[in-house]
This record gives sequence, structure tokens and C-alpha cells, in this order.
Amino acid sequence: MSRLGTETAFEVLARARVLEAKGRDIVHFEIGEPDFDTPSNVVDAGVNALRGGWTHYGPSAGLPQLRKAIAAEVGRTRGVRVEPEEVVVVPGGKPIIFFALLALVEEGDEVIFPNPGFPIYESMIHFLGAKAIPIQLKEKMDFNLDIDELKRLITSKSKMIILNSPHNPTGGVMTERDVRGVAEAIGDRNIMVLSDEIYSRLIFEGSHFSLMSVDGFKDRTILLDGFSKTYAMTGWRLGYGVMRADLATHVSRLMTNSNSCTASFTQIAGVEAIEGDQASVEEMCRQFKSRRDVFVAGLNKIKGFSCRVPRGAFYVFPNITGTGWTSKKLADALLEEAGVACLPGTSFGEFGEGYIRFSVANSIANINKALERIDGWAKKNL
Ligand SMILES: Cc1ncc(COP(=O)(O)O)c(C=O)c1O
Repeated sequence: MSRLGTETAFEVLARARVLEAKGRDIVHFEIGEPDFDTPSNVVDAGVNALRGGWTHYGPSAGLPQLRKAIAAEVGRTRGVRVEPEEVVVVPGGKPIIFFALLALVEEGDEVIFPNPGFPIYESMIHFLGAKAIPIQLKEKMDFNLDIDELKRLITSKSKMIILNSPHNPTGGVMTERDVRGVAEAIGDRNIMVLSDEIYSRLIFEGSHFSLMSVDGFKDRTILLDGFSKTYAMTGWRLGYGVMRADLATHVSRLMTNSNSCTASFTQIAGVEAIEGDQASVEEMCRQFKSRRDVFVAGLNKIKGFSCRVPRGAFYVFPNITGTGWTSKKLADALLEEAGVACLPGTSFGEFGEGYIRFSVANSIANINKALERIDGWAKKNL
């Protein structure tokens, strides 16, 4: 257990709540979840499913109608043919990280993962006794993978490479060229790729390109996607993996051994999310983009902060080296002295030092309030 890590967002939220209980006003940018409500057509489908008796166990791999809807959606968006047998429905995107690593990675294997990056990757790699090989995402490369470095990091022990685009915490988006570069670096080696595409619908400039779309890579890719971010359904717990049918059988067995199945009524709501009106997804994306624009422009006017424009997800990841403060110290001061909750870049790995992450899941009014507070704090302390 001592090898298992965690996500600090929940700890910062708890600290912010303690300050609020003492009467302080805190603006929240720590948790990575949309502040919007789940679209009403999806809520209605879930309520109707509950009333309609979808309250029993279902197949471990997911209800056939949802697996079929996901196969069609992933097939259409990634330009490949996907069979329902290649889809495993799980409670959120996270279990796919857990199960894919559990199914494929042995003690001593090497797993290459983005750093800064979603902390659960490194946590799980360590937990399994495998060797975590970070690949640094550099700001000067727009937080993209350095393909030459990737080539250097691949060894005969490399078992898996984890990709995440759009990226948490930097908002970086891999271009088709980058993705093809990864494919070329892997060549014909027996390496599986976990492609975390949970933010695939949240792209403001450019478009999403999956490794799954590269010739010869469909069978070597485990695609992770889900409903949490796209449809503001974090609390429903609904996500999925798309992978080779034989691997899907093993991952389903992990489901049988852990969760039995994903809640049936949430899966019925998931069919509506995929097949119903997508207007609310577009609206959320539009709002995240305008918040990003206001926040980035505002941060760039504050002493010590410099921020690139993230092209996807809903995170803003400014460089704070100009403040002369470490990420942790600065994030703590912003929470305690300025009433702005955010996360130190180091919550996302060693290469997150020099940055902090704001999740722009908050209104423009609150973003402006936070900018004023940060500016006031910087004028006083820097
Ligand atoms: C990159 C990334 N992958 C996976 C997840 C997990 O999503 P879920 O809440 O659906 O488990 C998150 C959530 O923050 C994430 O940022």
C-alpha cells in the first residue's frame, strides 16, 4: 500500500472547505470537473431507467445497447471499425487505467508516462512494482511529447506507453503529426499504448487525433474515454475502454472480480448521452473556451505569471517561475492568503515544478474575482 499514490485535488478541496467553514470566501479552481449540470435529456433517461426497472445486475462488460452505441461512436470518431466485443463499460474512466495496467504490466516492466500528468498513472505503475519512466512534457514544445526523447526512453523492457490528449494538467493537444511520431517511435515493438482520451470532445483549436486511427495500431491501443467530462457526469461514474477483444475479456473478468458490473440505469442514460442531442456538449465547450480566454489574458498581466493558451481540456497551467516561489508554496499562499484554490504543478509529478493548475470550471464572474485577488496578492508579496 505504501507504493500507492493519490490525487491531491481532493485534499486541497478539503482544506478550502475548512477555510469556508471559518467564514472565508474561496474561489474554487482545484477540482477537475465541469461545474455544469448533466444535460437534462440524460438526467431524464436516467430517471426513466430507474423507474423502468434498470436497477439490477447487468453483464460485467456493459449492457449490449451501450457497448454497441460506444462501438459506433468510437468507430465514427476515430475512423476505425470497432465491434461491441472490443468495448468494456466501467464505472468512470479511472478503472480503465487501473485494469489495463493490472492486466498487462508485471513487476519490473517499464511504463512510459507523461510528466506532468494525471497522478494516477504513476501511482498505479508503482503499485504494480513496475518501473515508472517519466517523459517530460516541455512548455517550449507546447507540452507535447518529444518524440526523440521517447525513442531514447523505449527499451526492451518497455511494456506500455501512456498518452493523454487533450492533456491534464497542461491543456496540451497532440497533433496528428505528434501521434504518428509516437507510432513511428514504437515501430513493430510489442508495446501496448494506453491512450487516455477522456477530454477528446473538449478541444478549442485543432482537432482530436487518436493513435487508434493509425494503421496497424488499433490492436495495440487501449482507448480510454467516458462521460464524466464530456457530459458533466462525474458523479454518475460511467466510462469505457476500447481494446482488442481478447484483452476486453480479461478486463471484463477484472470487472466481475471487482464491481460485478457498472450501474445499469447509468448505462441507459449513457446511451442517451451518446445518441441524443449534442447541443449541450457544444455549449459547455464554448463556455470553457471563453473562460480560458479571460483567465489566460488576465494571468498574463499579473507579475510573475506567464501562461500559454491551452488548446483543450479545461485547465490553465501558468508558468510561475517569475514569482521566485515554488509551486507548492505559491498554491498554499493563494489558498490561504488570497482565497483562490488551485493545485501546485508538482501534484502532477516532478516536472510540474514551476507551474500551478487552475481548473476553469467556474463562472467568468468568479474568474475575474480570482484574477483580482491573485493580482492583489502578487502586488503585495512579489
Ligand atoms: C486525464 C484523466 N484521465 C482519467 C480521468 C478519470 O475520469 P473519471 O472521473 O471518469 O474516472 C481524469 C479525471 O480527472 C483525468 O483527468
